[in-house]
Amino acid sequence: MSSIPDDFLSKTLARVKPSPTIAVSNLAAELKAAGKDVIGLGAGEPDFDTPQNIKNAGIAAITAGKTKYTAVDGIAELKSAICAKLKRDNNLSYVNAQVTVATGGKQILYNALMATMNPGDEVIIPAPYWVSYPDMVLLAGGTPVAVEAGIETGFKMTPAQLEAAITPKTKWLIFNSPSNPTGAGYSAEELKGLTDVLLRHPHVWVMTDDMYEHLVFDDFKFATPAEVEPKLYARTLTCNGVSKAYAMTGWRIGYAAGPQPLIAAMRKIQSQSTSNPCSVSQWAAVEALNGPQDFLAVNNATFLRRRNLVVEMLNSAEGITCPTPDGAFYVYPNIAGCLGKTTPAGTKITDDQVFATALLEETGVAVVFGAAFGLSPNFRVSYATSDTNLIEACTRIQTFCAALS
Ligand SMILES: Cc1ncc(COP(=O)(O)O)c(C=O)c1O
Repeated sequence: MSSIPDDFLSKTLARVKPSPTIAVSNLAAELKAAGKDVIGLGAGEPDFDTPQNIKNAGIAAITAGKTKYTAVDGIAELKSAICAKLKRDNNLSYVNAQVTVATGGKQILYNALMATMNPGDEVIIPAPYWVSYPDMVLLAGGTPVAVEAGIETGFKMTPAQLEAAITPKTKWLIFNSPSNPTGAGYSAEELKGLTDVLLRHPHVWVMTDDMYEHLVFDDFKFATPAEVEPKLYARTLTCNGVSKAYAMTGWRIGYAAGPQPLIAAMRKIQSQSTSNPCSVSQWAAVEALNGPQDFLAVNNATFLRRRNLVVEMLNSAEGITCPTPDGAFYVYPNIAGCLGKTTPAGTKITDDQVFATALLEETGVAVVFGAAFGLSPNFRVSYATSDTNLIEACTRIQTFCAALS
């Protein structure tokens, strides 16, 4: 293997780790390729296909030659569709100049952090969190401040916890509801408790990641900070994307709306990195946002059935407690009852990483361990896979847990 000098790689890189969720998916794929019987429950994407009308819009864009560079942060047609969506779904008024489009929701968040972080700036991140938030803050030169929101509060940060975490250095609160990895959603009333705290601290801005807005169940009603508290409009960046709800993860389109100077700063970052999001994908996203939305309810009915199946089966596994989430396509069971026990192959379960590794090696079920999301002892299951896979995987988990001694 060739080597490079110790000081060749950037010092910033040493502060971050590769995405553990992608690592689990890769490991599961490798084991599968090697002939092992593996069921992957690590994927962060719907198993549904992109709806045909959206694909057709992409094909039509290619045929019409819409294949050149576009405006740096998105074509006007997509920005208008985003403004219409924000008005329709969230009662938020924006004009095109307050909107930016990027290569996925991930790049939106990254651009926002790169555009605003100075050394010493703190970013409050409720834990468990989506794995990328702390590392993106570190890459941008800021300091992530995790606030643990455990199973006892339904994995939701309380207003008192938020109040206690704010310092003069706090720049952002990153807010994500429904959440990856827990599926927990904040009601408008719960969210109001948090926005009331923010009103008392005018230097703190909110970056809200509404990626799972449309994936909600039962009576849960989605709410977003600027809608719940209009006084926060001037310091809120509302981030969203088409990846999850429209089954468009590979198309790579995310967007945000917020104060114009912030949007301009994010555009500057993008102009010197990726130039613009994929032209064809932007036209497909116009159709996603403007076209029929009825398939969302159909997909949600499937996700709801799977959620109920997984919650019930995991709660029947010895030593596991699995709360029922409000949205997204994840559950985040607690494994406190398995700690200290030994697997049939002789591994002592000392933490959730050991649990997940033993589960993969001894049963072929791939899940992501809780420490990756900043709250243990848990693991994340993505139920964006077939009922057959889910029943088989949960049965294996039940057998694995029953065999612990
Ligand atoms: C909470 C959350 N935000 C953002 C993203 C990124 O989405 P995209 O695929 O559009 O970059 C994800 C994807 O897993 C996510 O779970």
